[in-house]
Formats: sequence, structure tokens, C-alpha cells
Amino acid sequence: MRQLLIIGIGAGDPDFITMQAIKALNRVDVFLIPDKGDEKQALKQLRLDICDRYVEREFSWREFCVPKRESEGDYKANVAQWHAEIAEAYERLLTEVPEDGVAGLLVWGDPSLYDSTLRIVDSLKERGRVAFEHEVIPGITAVQVLAAKHRIPLNRIGEPVLVTTGRKLAQGWPSEVETVVVMLDGELAFTKIDPTGLEIFWGAHLGTPSEVLVSGDLAAVADEIVEKRARSRAENGWVMDTYLIRRT
Ligand SMILES: C[S@@+](CC[C@H](N)C(=O)[O-])C[C@H]1O[C@@H](n2cnc3c(N)ncnc32)[C@H](O)[C@@H]1O
Repeated sequence: MRQLLIIGIGAGDPDFITMQAIKALNRVDVFLIPDKGDEKQALKQLRLDICDRYVEREFSWREFCVPKRESEGDYKANVAQWHAEIAEAYERLLTEVPEDGVAGLLVWGDPSLYDSTLRIVDSLKERGRVAFEHEVIPGITAVQVLAAKHRIPLNRIGEPVLVTTGRKLAQGWPSEVETVVVMLDGELAFTKIDPTGLEIFWGAHLGTPSEVLVSGDLAAVADEIVEKRARSRAENGWVMDTYLIRRT
């Protein structure tokens, strides 16, 4: 039976790869490499660099263009449509993998967190047009890297942490939570909430040579983060940032 290995590659530094991931990488015959356009060329290159660095056997790779998500209209319907289009791309590529072959998908960070690969793979299984078994190999998430770089635990003793998106935080501080980790924030949501009594631990391009870290009282450092984020985007052509905000 065809195998599909979904391998978490860590969020930034190629040294984040685990021993289990290296073993899995060395089972793969064909890597399926997404191409998300110019802005994400660096991420594509990083995946290829990981293959070159860790794979000690012959392998090939197939690039596929990731369709663009419609930004106008209903968000959830657009995401569902987008996932269906990606599922079709996976299906086409998987049918080209020999029936006893192993395909690999390298997922940024860990596949369990704000990544739809596993949902898309489940939908492929449901459609049942291509037979395969799949395995998931965990990776180090941007959230773990953020905590390590700032040398902080994520939670206060016995307290929960909410991991959410910039879009959600912009709607207001979630009730009954003291600590929030924010990902996928294209709208500087930390500037849209009341900063009183909040501290922030922010990081962009974590684990890469372009890494930037800022921490402090939100009111005091918000402008510095906005400025450093803009500069980082200008210098790199794109920016990925994650932050933790908690009540002081
Ligand atoms: C689509 S999610 C993928 C998360 C990934 N699966 C993980 O485990 O970290 C992309 C978001 O992750 C965060 N992120 C990923 N890599 C990052 C990095 N190296 N530095 C800062 N944030 C990062 C950013 O919030 C970005 O918008």
C-alpha cells in the first residue's frame, strides 16, 4: 500500500528536526513540495534544504502550485473551497506515486497546529479515489520556539493558555483567560486591545537568521513591535510572527 508521511519539520531552524523526522525523511521516495508563490520561496527552499541535508538516499520531489484562497465573501466557505482544490492536487500527485512507494509532505512546525494538511488528508481518504496509509511525525511549533527564545513557560501554575489567531484577538480579550498565544496575525491585533495590565513576548522569523524578539509591557513596546515588524517584512519580503500576551 502507498504510504504518505506527514512530517513536522519545526518552525524555522533546520536543527529543529527530530530524530524521528530524520528517520521518516529517509523512507520517502517522493517529496510533495508546495509552491506558494514568490513570497514563500524561502519556505520552499527551506524544505528542499532539509531534504538535501538529512536524506541519505535517492529521492525525487514534485512541486505543486498551491491555489490562492479567495479573500472576498464567506471566510469558512472560502477555506472549504481552497482545501478541496488542494486535496485535488494531492490526489493527482499521489496517484503518480507507485503503489508500494512512500510520499512525504513536510509541514512547517507541527501538523497539529494551524495547519490543514491533516484535515485535507482525511478528506482524501473519505473520497477514496486513491488508496494510501498515512503517518504523522510531530515537529517543534512556533509556539514552543517563542517560549524557548524568551525563556518563559507558556502557562502560569495550574492555569490554561489560549492559542488563537489575530483575527479573534482583534475582537477583544477572551474572557476567563490570563494568557493568550497569537498566531496568524496579519492585522496587528495587539494594537487593537486595551494594553492596560498586559505584557507581551513577541517574535518574528523565529529560529532563522532574521529572528527579532521584543518583550515588555504592551503599552510600552507596542510601537516598537509595529516598527520592527514592518522593517522585518521590508527586509525579508514577508514576515511570520507569533506572540504571547498575559496579564501582569
Ligand atoms: C499556518 S500557521 C503554521 C503554524 C505551524 N504549524 C506551527 O506549528 O508553528 C503560520 C503561523 O505560525 C506562526 N509561525 C510559524 N513559524 C514562525 C516563525 N518561524 N516565527 C514566528 N512565527 C511563526 C506565525 O504566527 C504564522 O502566521
